[in-house]
Amino acid sequence: MNKQNLSAINANNIEKQVSLPSATSATDSDKKLEILKNINLTVNCGESIAIVGASGSGKSTLLGILAGLDLPTKGEMFFYGQPFHQLDEEQRAGVRRKDVGFIFQQFLLVPSLTALENVMLPAELSDDAEMRASAKSEAERWLQKVGLDHRLTHFPNQLSGGEQQRVAIARAFITKPKLLFADEPSANLDSDNGKLVENLLFELNQTAETTLILVTHNPELAKRCQRTVSLIGGTLVEETAPDKDPSDELADGTLDLDISEAIANAF
Ligand SMILES: Nc1ncnc2c1ncn2[C@@H]1O[C@H](COP(=O)(O)OP(=O)(O)OP(=O)(O)O)[C@@H](O)[C@H]1O
Ligand SMILES: [Mg+2]
Repeated sequence: MNKQNLSAINANNIEKQVSLPSATSATDSDKKLEILKNINLTVNCGESIAIVGASGSGKSTLLGILAGLDLPTKGEMFFYGQPFHQLDEEQRAGVRRKDVGFIFQQFLLVPSLTALENVMLPAELSDDAEMRASAKSEAERWLQKVGLDHRLTHFPNQLSGGEQQRVAIARAFITKPKLLFADEPSANLDSDNGKLVENLLFELNQTAETTLILVTHNPELAKRCQRTVSLIGGTLVEETAPDKDPSDELADGTLDLDISEAIANAF
């Protein structure tokens, strides 16, 4: 078995550039924006990892590439040993449907579907007949867990930002994905609902061994993850040892100096 097969995610030398609208030709390198530079990241199965960094540093772009929603300009992305960079969109969509949950920064709920229907959707699209059959009851269960059982028939535009975020979280959980990506999952929530959602994320990480990769501006949330990586201007500049026991840091409620410095520098 090669090294890639042992990891949930293995990203090698990832770069991401986009052409700016003013670019006159695709070869005009002056008009290209370099968002991610030479990113190397390995995430082990069942691990929880926080990606921190200032606004605009490339966190959401990196998350999209790690989840196979976007392709890097250069580099290799292995997903449980599968070379994502060599799959076409349909093949990547198949992997995402089966194994990936994503909580988007902008929620991305379907406006014409109710909260219940939005949460049911990934289960209804599953190849697993059992999951399709239990879509409604599971969606009700997850909406209850995020405290929204009284909002089942509401459409996204009838829900507050925090309520929409909780629907998006229930939608990401319903298929019990192998890998869960969350882009600032508690950013729009009050502290009680934020804690509730964070607890659910780590509950899934621990009980279903879901690998958790989250982007956050919240140092407390980052601290709950086993590992923190920091993006500064598109470069991954900080990575704590993957095999370090996180309880070492949490025991006295303080962070390792290097991590706390990285987090402080990132804001
Ligand atoms: N398609 C695009 N075209 C042009 N620029 C882009 C595109 N996508 C991202 N960018 C730019 O790349 C940089 C990184 O964007 P990204 O959304 O990944 O940042 P972020 O770290 O998630 O920020 P935030 O914390 O504000 O969510 C930003 O400067 C953004 O404007
Ligand atoms: Mg972002």
